[in-house]
Amino acid sequence: MSFEQIFDESYERVLSARRDGNDFFEAFYQRFLNDDRRIAQRFAYTDMATQQSMLKKSFYSLFAFYASGQADDSIRRIAERHNRDHLDINPELYDRWLECLIRTVTQFDDEISEDVELAWRLVMAPGITYMKFKYDK
Ligand code: HEM
Repeated sequence: MSFEQIFDESYERVLSARRDGNDFFEAFYQRFLNDDRRIAQRFAYTDMATQQSMLKKSFYSLFAFYASGQADDSIRRIAERHNRDHLDINPELYDRWLECLIRTVTQFDDEISEDVELAWRLVMAPGITYMKFKYDK
């Protein structure tokens, strides 16, 4: 099975799972906000339900970037919104973002394995590299 297929199947499992009454995106943001005070501060005035659904949508741009090797308008817009002139999200925070995501996958996917974890890291890597690269461009 390719890493893309391993990722797709894991993504389906995590989307249909609930833990402690939370769905995957709720649990991810709880973890991410608790990870670092600087992160919680950035979301102090954010409607987190809207934020969760925006992240879910933007996941498709991340997958598409991995699969096609091309940045579509959606990922370009997201990178611009996060860059130094706008939200000013320091590139190092993307590493925290990824580690929180992987820990949430581990919590939600009953079939977690090294290959599943690697599949997530591979699929997310181009999008994260792109966002970091565009920080000061
Ligand atoms: C690849 C990783 C990430 C993706 C795909 C992503 C995606 C998004 C999307 C789709 C939005 C909504 C944009 C809009 O309003 O049009 C957003 C907003 C935001 N993101 Fe990210 N994000 C990522 C990483 C991060 C990181 C590492 C931080 C660090 C704290 C962060 C902080 C924020 C903040 C503060 C907002 C604005 C919230 C508001 O409107 O109040 N994001 N993100």
